[in-house]
Amino acid sequence: MTDLHVTICGVELKNPVIPASGTFGFGREFDEIYDISCLGAVATKGLTLEPRLGNPVPRIAESNAVILNAVGLQNPGVEHFIEHDLAWLRVKTRVVANVAGRTVEEYGAMCARLDGLVDFIELNISCPNVRAGGMALGVKPENVKEVTHVAKCALKKTPLIVKLSPNAESIAANARAAEEGGADCVSLVNTFTGMAVDIERRRPVLANNTGGVSGAGIRPIALRMVYEAKRAVSIPVIGMGGITCAEDAVAFMMAGASAVQVGTQNFTDALACPKIIEGLDRWCSSHGVERVSDLVGTLQMN
Ligand SMILES: Cc1cc2nc3c(=O)[nH]c(=O)nc-3n(C[C@H](O)[C@H](O)[C@H](O)COP(=O)(O)O)c2cc1C
Repeated sequence: MTDLHVTICGVELKNPVIPASGTFGFGREFDEIYDISCLGAVATKGLTLEPRLGNPVPRIAESNAVILNAVGLQNPGVEHFIEHDLAWLRVKTRVVANVAGRTVEEYGAMCARLDGLVDFIELNISCPNVRAGGMALGVKPENVKEVTHVAKCALKKTPLIVKLSPNAESIAANARAAEEGGADCVSLVNTFTGMAVDIERRRPVLANNTGGVSGAGIRPIALRMVYEAKRAVSIPVIGMGGITCAEDAVAFMMAGASAVQVGTQNFTDALACPKIIEGLDRWCSSHGVERVSDLVGTLQMN
């Protein structure tokens, strides 16, 4: 038996596998399929101050090895989450509250509201920001640093993860900006902006025209970005983007990820996360790795 525990920002997880935000709701539907207490943690759907209905349909498009989504942060609002889901979820496993806002101040308010109530707060800085003229806060390092600083100042107890957008000028510069702003950890990648076209209608498939690309097809790019981010900072990194199996998770950990998130694969196979946990145990045992954490950052470049 491999020791699958990992510790991130002083918080111990029973294993490094976390379903990614937006692909697992608040865990209730998946808990009907398997006991989600086997997971290292759960990253919630992106939460906002007020409830949101999200974007018009169609808001999912399928393609080869990837999907596009423009769900648009549909969620019941942070108060509903605290009242209805949080206590239940915390009994099951560690909780990563994924939060978003329309302004830097809203991010601060979300962090203040959730401080001490959850195990981690993960800032989704990929959403279009009112003050940044609709541009996501996650594009330019100066914006990344500012929103991270405001969020960190609102937190006294809960560690702060900043989730980096791959639609950035430089992933290393943004990872460093998050660290300078006070992040305790960075996670990456969020989705890549993309488009699918319905050629018969000569229109984009998604009502929103563009959407975020995720799934197995983005994995090589995500892996490269995780490697670059880890080299740029001394805080822990959580890796994601196209992870489908235990071997993919091993690759992300070797590239420097202390834990991994699994997103789109939960739609393909509802049992993806427990299978990856079992697979990690098997892979480590068959390769003489006693602790899964011993894999982190062991990649040797040619
Ligand atoms: C339908 C859908 C909804 C998502 N919603 C969120 C969200 O609310 N907040 C967030 O930070 N990321 C969100 N993401 C991004 C994922 O958490 C993850 O970063 C991305 O999908 C890459 O991982 P994957 O290739 O394993 O899916 C969403 C992704 C999908 C597919």
